[in-house]
Amino acid sequence: MTPQAAASNGTDEGGESAEDRVRIFDTTLRDGEQAPGFSMDRRAKLCMAQALEALGVDILEAGFPQASPDDFAAVDDIARALRSTTVCALARCQSGDIDTAARALQHARRSRIHLFLSTSPLHREHKLGMSKNQVLETAIASIEHARKHCDDVEFSAEDALRTEPEFLADIFSAAIAAGASTLNAPDTVGYTTPAEMVELFAYLRSHVRDAHKAVFSAHCHDDLGMAVANSLAAVSAGARQVECTINGIGERAGNAALEEIVMALKVRAPHFGLHTRIDTRKLYPTSRLLTQVTGQALPRNKAVVGENAFAHESGIHQHGMLKHRGTYEIMRPQDVGIAETTLVLGKHSGRHALRQRLEALGHRFDDNAMDSLFKRFKILADRKREIRDEDLEALALGQDPDA
Ligand code: KIV
Ligand code: ZN
Repeated sequence: MTPQAAASNGTDEGGESAEDRVRIFDTTLRDGEQAPGFSMDRRAKLCMAQALEALGVDILEAGFPQASPDDFAAVDDIARALRSTTVCALARCQSGDIDTAARALQHARRSRIHLFLSTSPLHREHKLGMSKNQVLETAIASIEHARKHCDDVEFSAEDALRTEPEFLADIFSAAIAAGASTLNAPDTVGYTTPAEMVELFAYLRSHVRDAHKAVFSAHCHDDLGMAVANSLAAVSAGARQVECTINGIGERAGNAALEEIVMALKVRAPHFGLHTRIDTRKLYPTSRLLTQVTGQALPRNKAVVGENAFAHESGIHQHGMLKHRGTYEIMRPQDVGIAETTLVLGKHSGRHALRQRLEALGHRFDDNAMDSLFKRFKILADRKREIRDEDLEALALGQDPDA
């Protein structure tokens, strides 16, 4: 069944309701890889693509084949290797780009050509030098051309959030008529707000002709730190595809972070009433793999997958966690593939956490001994940022850990 047919009859390939599933379109290897410091060679891209397929992404944007011979080869490698995930290639609305994308995808079991063209007044005038009509006609001709190669064609109206909504509705209506089955409204420059996102998607769903024949998609950049909130706002207004990247890598401040969107939909499932096909236990390993292949570390406080995402140092929080984990954790670390919560011992930690860690290391103390040990622990913690098990062993034996 083509995605277009699936969209129109309300079911997808798995027989679930297409209405309550959000498709995860991963663009780590295209928009993510375009960012300075994140480029990946063919081998790294293939390795990431296999991890992303295992993670359960629905569509994987493997690259922009016209950009370079290496990008073409990477898309070709991935197209040959993947089994169930749709492999997507990006192309400008130019027949050369489209033909190259189709060649790079020819061995894919499932493929998609992703076309993009700017629609905003600023881009029409200063980047393209095209009128509205020329943009519309170019989009239609390109979609028709791409459909000769591939059943599954996505059209992106670049800078959609700064485009006149009436023109966007016109171009999306024409795109559906020309054969596009996914319509993407990117916030290319990360300018919009969640309320504006809701307004635009609600408008498009009611003003685009035959809107039910297409899947609406959001693609948000993080220039103002709102990419995930904006993606979720679009979903709440009917978008059923989100374009995102692992660890939120991407142009400038990055794209919406896949792991954050997926966990927001899961943790707040009663609020959204939607699901994805992502195996969330693979989020952390996939995030780690990306840091290894790009050599770019994550900030410790990165949501969902950062080193501190399930770590607690303050005594009050540790005390709460030891009584009931729900006091300070809204998701289980195991659900994102992290082995366990860590109670980090430092100057903010309390007696309960210290006693628990010492007992785990095999040391039991009565209350008096614990009082004196706790004092020595605090003096040490003021000196050191983090107290490791070796330090505790030395303290427990009455030695100076730094001696
Ligand atoms: O941000 C953007 O507009 C894009 C398009 C190519 C979809 O990345
Ligand atoms: Zn983008």
